[in-house]
Amino acid sequence: MPRAMSVSQESLVSALSDVVDPVVNKRLGELKSIREVSIEGDTARATVDLLSPASGSRDAIVKALEDAAAKLGLKRLELTVASAVRTRQIAGDDPCPEVKNVIPVMSGKGGVGKSTVAANLALALLRSGARVGLLDADIYGPSVPTMLGIMGRPISRDGKLIEPLERFGLKIMSIGFLLEDARQSVIWRGPMIQGALQQFLKDVAWGKLDYLILDLPPGTGDVALTLFQKLKVTGGVIVTTPQDVALMDVYKSVSMCQKLNVPILGVVENMSHFIDSAGVKHEIFGRGGGARIAEFAKAPLLGQIPIDSLVREWGDNGTPIVQAQPNSIPAKAFKEIAERLADCVTRAVFEAHGGSAPVDGPKRLPILR
Ligand SMILES: Nc1ncnc2c1ncn2[C@@H]1O[C@H](COP(=O)(O)OP(=O)(O)O)[C@@H](O)[C@H]1O
Ligand SMILES: [Mg+2]
Repeated sequence: MPRAMSVSQESLVSALSDVVDPVVNKRLGELKSIREVSIEGDTARATVDLLSPASGSRDAIVKALEDAAAKLGLKRLELTVASAVRTRQIAGDDPCPEVKNVIPVMSGKGGVGKSTVAANLALALLRSGARVGLLDADIYGPSVPTMLGIMGRPISRDGKLIEPLERFGLKIMSIGFLLEDARQSVIWRGPMIQGALQQFLKDVAWGKLDYLILDLPPGTGDVALTLFQKLKVTGGVIVTTPQDVALMDVYKSVSMCQKLNVPILGVVENMSHFIDSAGVKHEIFGRGGGARIAEFAKAPLLGQIPIDSLVREWGDNGTPIVQAQPNSIPAKAFKEIAERLADCVTRAVFEAHGGSAPVDGPKRLPILR
């Protein structure tokens, strides 16, 4: 092993910069991810800005950095891990330029678990250290207030922007908060929908967010179209169930995205199978639906969520399972999907910017090592 004495700051910076981010396959040097490098005796310190809070890629990068420092003969590398999530394309008239990524969760079909997936993915991303908002854009049947156990009338502090409500640290807005009576139904026509969605994006004080997850109504209707016209979304997440009948409707939402040049980040297969008390898997709704949609969408299958009464019960009780029982099997499935999604977001952003991606202020992650 070479002697630590001889390690110069320059050679350390260079060694750390040569580590490659596996998600975008670029050197950390090129990504300008390495900061605040110093050496004291045989201990080095550095800060690394990651492209997302996904822990899989984080662990791989941290390991590679530690190996690089060890190779130079340094005994310890004290890393501060920060995240600097990259930003989608923002036009001059973008309604929410501080929101780095907008991710609609969609499906041609109702009842497949869009709201469940949207709420749990939002919480999983939040729990990994990101700043996250959840916008209930299902103006015909808002279920976010129930699922997140939150009701109340949002206020405005400055008379201009409406403050989102907050639960578990998640910023939340729903048409349900604005209705006189939660049981009231919303009969809206195109222009009103456009106005409402515009307000939710533009007139809500979202602040700086890494990810804004949108729970879209089923189908390929006005809400999705309006959204895609108002801003550049990072990409959509398609939710499906395994059975054939569900699929026809789901294909339509994939086609809509493709026609409108909206990237599809990935597919989630929900209610994918049932795991009995002996741990045996039963594919009660058939199999392969998620994979078929993913193939059709030319997007990855992000994962499969089992059907589990706990998912429904916790949803009905206002604490999504990822928050309520983070170590349960469905919660772990959601967390893995959120990890993969974060990496897909990173790749989509790089692609949208032609292979690079602008950085703005990094945010220190709660996890230090
Ligand atoms: N994986 C699952 N296991 C059990 N129940 C689920 C699962 N996913 C969703 N549900 C339940 O199915 C119903 C419909 O889900 P929801 O998320 O409201 O669908 P959508 O938003 O697509 O209409 C809800 O009662 C929800 O709790
Ligand atoms: Mg819903």
